[in-house]
Amino acid sequence: MEKKGQRKNWNRGEYNFLIDSDLELYKNNKKDYFYGMAQQTDHFKKVISHAKEYGFVFPSSEIYDGLSAVYDYAQNGSALKNNIREYWWKSMTQLNENIVGIDAAIFMHPTTWKASGHVDAFNDPLIDNKLSKKRYRADVLVEDYVAKIETKMEKEITKAAKRFGDSFDEAQFKATNPRVLGYQETANAILKRLGQSLEKEDLADVKALIEELEIACPESGSRDWTDVKQFNLMFGTKLGASADSAMDLYLRPETAQGIFVNFLNVQKTGRMKLPFGIAQTGKAFRNEIVARQFIFRMREFEQMEMQFFIPPGTQKEWYEHWKETRLNWHHNLGLGKENYRFHDHEKLAHYADAASDIEFRFPFGFKELEGIHSRTDFDLSSHEKFTGKKLQYFDPERNENYVPYVVETSIGLDRMFLAVFSNALTEEVLEDGSSRTVLKLPPALSPTKVAVLPLVKKDGLPELARSVVDELKWSFSTNYDEKDAVGRRYRRQDALGTPYCITVDHQSLEDQTVTLRERDSMKQERIAIKDLKSEISEHVSLEGLMRKL
Ligand code: GAP
Repeated sequence: MEKKGQRKNWNRGEYNFLIDSDLELYKNNKKDYFYGMAQQTDHFKKVISHAKEYGFVFPSSEIYDGLSAVYDYAQNGSALKNNIREYWWKSMTQLNENIVGIDAAIFMHPTTWKASGHVDAFNDPLIDNKLSKKRYRADVLVEDYVAKIETKMEKEITKAAKRFGDSFDEAQFKATNPRVLGYQETANAILKRLGQSLEKEDLADVKALIEELEIACPESGSRDWTDVKQFNLMFGTKLGASADSAMDLYLRPETAQGIFVNFLNVQKTGRMKLPFGIAQTGKAFRNEIVARQFIFRMREFEQMEMQFFIPPGTQKEWYEHWKETRLNWHHNLGLGKENYRFHDHEKLAHYADAASDIEFRFPFGFKELEGIHSRTDFDLSSHEKFTGKKLQYFDPERNENYVPYVVETSIGLDRMFLAVFSNALTEEVLEDGSSRTVLKLPPALSPTKVAVLPLVKKDGLPELARSVVDELKWSFSTNYDEKDAVGRRYRRQDALGTPYCITVDHQSLEDQTVTLRERDSMKQERIAIKDLKSEISEHVSLEGLMRKL
C-alpha cells in the first residue's frame, strides 16, 4: 500500500531520475515529455509510442500541449481497459457468490477523509532545491542514493560471478564478501534512519540525512536545500453555488472508503453473512509530485478494490487466501510467472497488521502492481467514532456483535493495463529476415477479436466479408478492413493485438470457406464460415479465460 509520508523504501528503483514538472519538460522537448523521462529503456519508449500510434493512449488535451501526468484512453485502449476491468469484476463478483459490487460516488462527505486518516496523514515529504527551484520527494532523494549503493553492490556480484563461473555461490558471496557486506550495511542503516524519521514525522532529520549524504539536486548539482515539508496529496474542490456556503470536498484518493461507508447498507439489504466482500472499480485522484513513467503513476487513475469483511481473529488465514487468489488471477493471464513477485511489508501502516504487494516486472523493473492489506477494523471503527453510528455485525454463530475485520485487495487498472500492454509488445524477426511488431495480448483482453479482410476489393468479396462480419459481430468485437495488400493488413492487426484474421478469397465464393490466421503462430487454416464462431470463441472468450482460474 502506498502509505504517504512513509512511501516504501523498497520501491527506490523507479526513482532513478527525478523531475518535478514534466509539463515543463514537455514544453521544452515534446518527445521527451511524451516518453515520460529521458532515461527510459528502449522497450519502454516503444511501448509509449506504440500506445499512441495505434490508438491506445494519448496525452490528455494534447492540442493544448497536454496536461502533466494525465492521459486519455483512445479507441483501442478503452476497449483493452474495459476488458481488463471485466476480467477483474467478473472474477470477483460473478465467481464468488459472497462478493457483490457497488459503484459509489467520487464525492464523499468530507469527514470521511478525516476518519480514514487521509486529511492528516496522506502526505509526501517535499524538499525544494534553492538554486534550481525544483521540488523533490525528500524520501525519494534518499532512496535514489541507496539505489546507487545497491547498483555498486550488484556490480561486485556480477564481477565475481564472471570470475568464478559455474562454481559461483551468490548467497555465500553476499554473506561473506566484505565489500558487499559494507554496501549492504550502509544501505540498511540509511533506510532504517529514513524510515524512523518519517515514522516520527521528524522532517528536520530527513533534511539532515540528505545533507549528511551530500545529496545534490539532479538538475543543478546544488546542495542548497529548503526544509522538508509535508504536502497533502488530496485534490480539494467545493460543493455549492455561493462562496460563503460552499463546502470543502475532496476528490477521493482511493475507492475503498466508498465501500466502508456503505458496509452496513450492503450487508443489510443484501442479507450478507460474514465473510463477504464488496468490490468496486472507479476513479481515484492524487496530486502526485513525482508523477511519471507514463500511466504507471498518474494524478487521475482507476482502482479496482475489494474489501473482504471477516470475523476478528480470522484475518491471517483470509490474508493468505487473498494473496494466493490474486496471484493466481495474474498468472492465469499467461504473462509469465517469473514476472511477478510478492513484496511483504516490514513496516506497516498504523491500521494494518499485514500487507504485501504483488510486484510486476515493468519495462523499468519490478514495481508494485497490486496491494493486499489486512486492514484490521481500523476503517469501520474510525467511521463509527466520527459518525457516532454503529457499524457492527451480529454474528449468529458467535452470538455477538462486533466490528468486522477487513482484508483488502487493491489494484490500479492503469498499472494493470501497462503490465499487460508492455508485456505483450514484441518485435519478431521472421524466417525470411523481415520483422514484425506484434501485440501478443491475452486474446480475451484484445480490443478486437477478429478482423475480416476481403482479399481484393471486387468480385463480390467485400460483400461476402461484410456478411461474415454481420454474423460474427454478435459474439465478438469485429473489424472489417479492405485497405492495402493483405500482408500489410495482417501486420496492422498484429500491431493492434487482434488474435484472428479471416481472409475471404475467391474460393470462399465457391465453397463458403475462408482462411483463419492466428496472430502469434501466424498459422493459417481453411475453415467453413459456419464453424468460425465456435472455433474462435473457444480461444478468445472471457469465459474460457476465467474457467482456467
Ligand atoms: N485502498 C488502498 C490503496 O489505495 P495504494 O497502494 O495506495 O492502496 C492501490 O493503491 C493501487 O492503486 C496500487 O497498487 C497501484 O496499482 C494503484 N495506484 C496508486 N497510486 C497510483 C497512481 N498515482 N497512478 C496509478 N496507479 C496508482
